[in-house]
Amino acid sequence: MRMILVGPPGAGKGTQAARLVELFNIPHISSGDMFRAEVKAGTELGKELDRHMKSGGLVPDEVTIPIVLKRITSPDCANGFMLDGFPRTRPQAEALDHAMTKAGVALDAVVLIEVPDQLLEERAVLRRSDPETGKIYHLKYNPPPADIAARLVHRADDTVEAVTKRKDKYHAETAPIIPFYMEKGILKRVDGVGDPDAITERIKAVLSD
Ligand code: AP5
Ligand code: MG
Repeated sequence: MRMILVGPPGAGKGTQAARLVELFNIPHISSGDMFRAEVKAGTELGKELDRHMKSGGLVPDEVTIPIVLKRITSPDCANGFMLDGFPRTRPQAEALDHAMTKAGVALDAVVLIEVPDQLLEERAVLRRSDPETGKIYHLKYNPPPADIAARLVHRADDTVEAVTKRKDKYHAETAPIIPFYMEKGILKRVDGVGDPDAITERIKAVLSD
């Protein structure tokens, strides 16, 4: 299975990816997680990435594309992968398409998780992540156990200002990739509002259509 999860910030891509990669036994490749690991490592590249991410802007294509394309050529991706957060611009979609055609492989599905703008701010601002397990929590919708509360992380771009910019970037830069995949006949739309278990079932259903 070679697939992509697309959706606005806070749509639930990371939440759903964690469940689906176990089911399909494929690696979860989140460009955002890869970039945050680089920021945490304190490298020069990490400092550059941090500047873009903190403000809610996108990392430039010329930085993003080689990093992700290199990752999907790793041996663990030979039988499939789940991309989360890449591609998110038209040039990224075209670069992925070119690289996969060259490698003689094709995408099976692009799942678009649809959530209205007015729900996204609360999802992001109240999100907390566990740096030890990578698990994603929400203070209201998926509260973390009390004994791990002290170690939870609040992402630097989960402020109201950065989320507003991330939403604008999604509509301006990422939404244009939707017609690209519609034309290929592999776009699957899923309603991302409701219980996360129900959304996992919706995704499984569109994938087996
Ligand atoms: P990235 O890490 O990809 O962030 P994003 O796209 O903004 O998405 P999020 O991770 O915020 O949300 P999500 O959809 O994963 O939702 P989650 O499951 O966590 O990118 C971050 C930044 O890195 C970008 O802004 C950019 O700067 C840079 N970047 C990354 N990739 C790039 C690229 N390709 N090109 C250029 N720049 C790039 O859920 C959110 C919250 O909601 C959680 O608290 C969760 O518990 C809760 N929740 C989940 N599902 C539900 C539900 N059904 N009901 C209620 N609450 C729910
Ligand atoms: Mg995510």
